[in-house]
Amino acid sequence: MQRLKDCFLNSEIRIPQSAFEVGMVPFIDLTRQYKTIEEEILSATKKVYEKGRFILGEEVSAFEEEFSRYCGVRFGVGVDSGTNALHLALKAADIGEGDEVITVAHSFVATALAISLTGAKPLFVDIDPETYTMDPNALEHFLRHRNTLHTFLEEKGVGTLIHYPIPIHLQKAFRELGYRRGNLPLTEQYARELLSLPLFPEMAESEIEEVATQIKLFVGQKSPADDED
Ligand SMILES: Cc1ncc(COP(=O)(O)O)c(C=O)c1O
Repeated sequence: MQRLKDCFLNSEIRIPQSAFEVGMVPFIDLTRQYKTIEEEILSATKKVYEKGRFILGEEVSAFEEEFSRYCGVRFGVGVDSGTNALHLALKAADIGEGDEVITVAHSFVATALAISLTGAKPLFVDIDPETYTMDPNALEHFLRHRNTLHTFLEEKGVGTLIHYPIPIHLQKAFRELGYRRGNLPLTEQYARELLSLPLFPEMAESEIEEVATQIKLFVGQKSPADDED
C-alpha cells in the first residue's frame, strides 16, 4: 500500500501545463482525436446508457470478441485499466509470492507495480540504446550469471546469498555523501552479479563436496554457446 502511495500520491512525475497550452504544439490532443470518431463513440456509449448495463454486459462481450479477432487470438478479456491487464496476465501465468519477474526500469511505474501486486519481486535489466526496450544481451547476462545458479542451488538445497545487494554508497543511510549510481562501476557491477556460496569453519567435508558437485552439475548443464563470453 505504501508503495502505491509513493508512486501516485507523491509522484515525482508531473506533466507540465505547457504540454496542453493553446497556441503551442500540444504533446497530445485527445479532443482532435475524438472529433475524428465522434459519431462512433457517441452511438456506442448511448447504447450502454440506454441498456443500463455498466458492468460487463453485451457491449463488453462484443468488444472482447472483436478485439480478440483483431489480435488473431482465441480469447480477449476486457479490463478497466492497463495496470489490471498486466496484473491479471501475471496472475494467469501463476506468478505470485516467491517469484521474480524480470522487466525494465525504463517504463511507467505500473510495469513494476503490477508485478509487486501479485506478491512477486520485480527485477530490472537494462535497455538497448537502439530500441529503448529490454536489451536481450543484458537479460541473458543477468539470467546466466547469478539467478540461474542461485535457483539451481536452492532447488538442490544449497543456500546462497548476495554480498552485497546494495553497495553502501547507494544506500539511503549514506545519501548525504552524494554518491550516485555509476560512481563505483565495479562495485555496482559485482553487486548485480556475485553470488556467495556457503562458507563457514564448521562446514562438513561432505557439505563442501555437495556444493562442489552441484556447481559442477550446473556448469555441465550449460550449453557450449553459454560459455562464449
Ligand atoms: C507502459 C505502461 N504500462 C501500464 C500503464 C498503466 O495503464 P493504466 O493507467 O490504464 O492503468 C501505463 C500508463 O500510462 C503505461 O504507460
